[in-house]
Amino acid sequence: MRHAERRMFGVGLAIVFVAACGGRSQPGGAASAPAAEAFVPGLGELMSLQQMRHVKLWFAGQASNWQLADYEVDELGEGFDDIVKFHPTHKDSPVAPRDAIPRMVTQPLADVRAAIARKDAQAFVSAYDALTASCNNCHQATNFAFNRVQRPESNPYPNQAFAVAR
Ligand code: HEC
Repeated sequence: MRHAERRMFGVGLAIVFVAACGGRSQPGGAASAPAAEAFVPGLGELMSLQQMRHVKLWFAGQASNWQLADYEVDELGEGFDDIVKFHPTHKDSPVAPRDAIPRMVTQPLADVRAAIARKDAQAFVSAYDALTASCNNCHQATNFAFNRVQRPESNPYPNQAFAVAR
């Protein structure tokens, strides 16, 4: 919270500074510096985060760490919200992410969430596989079929504990 406040203060200062500079017109009509562009992560970047959460979700489920699994499935949902927001359409993809995501991933995500809520390890595995299939269906629909995801074969996050803390 304090960190966020400090950041807000910094942003406020920057706005005041930019406003002050903007008010002074340059003699000779020199163009003012262009405003900094807001950083928008590319779809590939956002997908790489989805890939990470997809991995962590699997290992959380395998460890019956339902709290962590619930967190990861929420993060996946938020990631898809960001994708719809920042990349409603994508290059000349025949299918727009803003249409494909509600149609293809909302239900599989809800099924994973339901299995987690029931702490049902078997239902989790089938819901997870269905979610993975929906990732690949969308890759096919958007002409990125060569990006094929699957159940992770090993855990690339040795510095995170997936087992429930005792
Ligand atoms: C809107 C349909 C859609 C859905 C749903 C979707 N993807 Fe993607 N994904 C794409 C597109 C399009 C790209 C290529 C983006 C680009 O231009 O770099 C991509 C790229 C990727 C990449 C490659 C990233 C890289 O740069 O190496 C991975 C990994 C990936 N997706 C994982 C997933 C996972 C995991 C899921 C499901 C949890 C998922 N995707 C769901 C459309 C989708």
